[in-house]
Amino acid sequence: MCGIVGYIGKRNAYPILIKGLHRLEYRGYDSAGVALINQDGQLNVYKAKGKVAELEAFCADKDTRGNIGIAHTRWATHGEPNTVNAHPHYSESERLAIIHNGIIENYAVLKAGLQQEGYTFKSETDTEVLVQLFEYTQVNRHVDLKTAVQLALQQVIGAYAIAVLDKDHPDTLIAARKGSPLVVGIGEGEYFLASDATPIVEYTDQVIYIEDEEVVSICMHATSGSAGLPPLRGEELRSIERPVDGRRTPLGEGVLNITTINNVEKTPEIKRLELSLSQLEKGGYPHFMLKEIFEQPRTLTDSMRGRVNVRQDNIALSGFIDNKERFLNAKRIIITACGTSWHAGLIAMYAIEEFAQIPVEVEYSSEFRYRKPVINKDDVVIAISQSGETADTLAAIQLAKSKGAFIFSICNVVGASIPRVSDSGCYTHVGPEIGVASTKAFTAQVVALTMLALCIGREKGTLSEEHYLNIVRELGRIPEKIERVLGQNKRIADFAKTFTYAQNFIYLGRGYNFPVAMEGALKLKEISYIHAEGYPAAEMKHGPIALISQEMPVVVVAPRCGTYEKVVSNIQEIKARKGRVIAIVTEGDELVSKIADYVIEVPETEECLTPLLTVIPLQLLAYHIAVVKGCDVDQPRNLAKSVTVE
Ligand code: F6R
Repeated sequence: MCGIVGYIGKRNAYPILIKGLHRLEYRGYDSAGVALINQDGQLNVYKAKGKVAELEAFCADKDTRGNIGIAHTRWATHGEPNTVNAHPHYSESERLAIIHNGIIENYAVLKAGLQQEGYTFKSETDTEVLVQLFEYTQVNRHVDLKTAVQLALQQVIGAYAIAVLDKDHPDTLIAARKGSPLVVGIGEGEYFLASDATPIVEYTDQVIYIEDEEVVSICMHATSGSAGLPPLRGEELRSIERPVDGRRTPLGEGVLNITTINNVEKTPEIKRLELSLSQLEKGGYPHFMLKEIFEQPRTLTDSMRGRVNVRQDNIALSGFIDNKERFLNAKRIIITACGTSWHAGLIAMYAIEEFAQIPVEVEYSSEFRYRKPVINKDDVVIAISQSGETADTLAAIQLAKSKGAFIFSICNVVGASIPRVSDSGCYTHVGPEIGVASTKAFTAQVVALTMLALCIGREKGTLSEEHYLNIVRELGRIPEKIERVLGQNKRIADFAKTFTYAQNFIYLGRGYNFPVAMEGALKLKEISYIHAEGYPAAEMKHGPIALISQEMPVVVVAPRCGTYEKVVSNIQEIKARKGRVIAIVTEGDELVSKIADYVIEVPETEECLTPLLTVIPLQLLAYHIAVVKGCDVDQPRNLAKSVTVE
């Protein structure tokens, strides 16, 4: 977690950095800070507890000049959220300043060594150790900052995306990554760096994704000769996208150079960004979460575009087609993910087992990676991650890969770490998801996984052509059906007010809708801070039924399919104990409508696709309860969008 941003060029860095921090605030928002080297050569560091707006207020009367700067928005790991622990951190002499996203696992050993050398520490963070180690290495090994960073990082165990300023070299910005994301944007005579491309997109669409253990050095006033190439100008500049002397690459004014921490020169690969500014704005909605809920008809159309053909009788997933044999020969499929993505994985288990008849295990990445799992060469591992950066999921697939399993990932953020280390995969293409609670990414994951299950089942011959065609055609109708569910937003908002008193909720569902119950409960917990549990409906009588009373709202996901009658019996059991039932039912349902307190109807669809409709009212219910309670819907407390620490 944490968001980092940096700038070097001709403009005033401060407004660019602040805007960048706002864009990255979804990654963490307990404190923020900025470091700038001004035209008088002073290195100013300003920090504030709380959100980026607090930092802006704090900086209002400060010297924020400077054409080079770095900034950080924090999600605390080591040390409580306060000004001292906020980044940037100075080195001992206050000549260097650093920002960091990640965790340094051996920081205690490094810190003890530096303390013995007389270094003093102001914060409780692991990050301060890095900047002290850089300065120590520079001073004791008589090397420049880039070399010091390389040498120091060789001693570091952990994850980092860092950027470092040196007061004595106001023309140079150094950055590095391992395990945490880092993107460099190349403008005209200026460079940007950030945890993702969102702070960069309005300035340039030319980016370089930095790889693990790479160190980037950007120097704005490099001169010709062995130390580098002369800065170029205009068109001449922009046209050069490959190394000129095999060692240094002029990209825009200044020189950008990438090496590994072991000083192996790398050739920067420039990519074009597929991201628009409007995707990063609220578009008239009060919150990103509501915008993203309402975007789902369009985002699912985007997810299916080019995959479900226009006649709606075929699905072509290139990641599957190119690796068909791996799937067809798989003895087992292991799905690994966290949080909401794990819920999408559970739904996929039902679909893959039903259509493809391959045993599926669904694993929390955090458990899987540490429990010495048995992984075979003919296993297929499917990793699901909106951000593509979740540390546990990344580690889980690295483990599976090392055992020879085939890795297929379903991710949203293009170019993120998980898709890059996977053998193959499928992007969900829903655009940036900014609300911390995942909504549109979830439905797109379910669509991608269902398409995959259908492809495997058809190819294996375990799914009849008729059933296949019915589901493919129905997939095409899902966006319009979601539109109909969204039409009930006002009603859901009205009765959501009734439930703000509740301390606890239970969510029940069966089969494909059991994971939906868990997802609905997770949404409510994270944004309204009401405790909620998702349960398989039939398990209720094995314990949770003891909780049922007038005070306990129970949300029952009961579309007309498979185990419908049994779920109706569960609703009777709740009503007999005076529980208050909110039921999600199929349009025209008469049975549940008579006994439930509140009913939300969803259109009829194929059973495997019901989660795509039933989850929508649960997203809206959680949203409206949180709004009435006055909660910060887009940035709930203690959470961050991209969990890059374990
Ligand atoms: C819940 C939520 C989280 C994420 C989880 C995994 O609304 O957003 O539970 O689903 O942190 O994140 P990704 O999918 O980015 O790996």
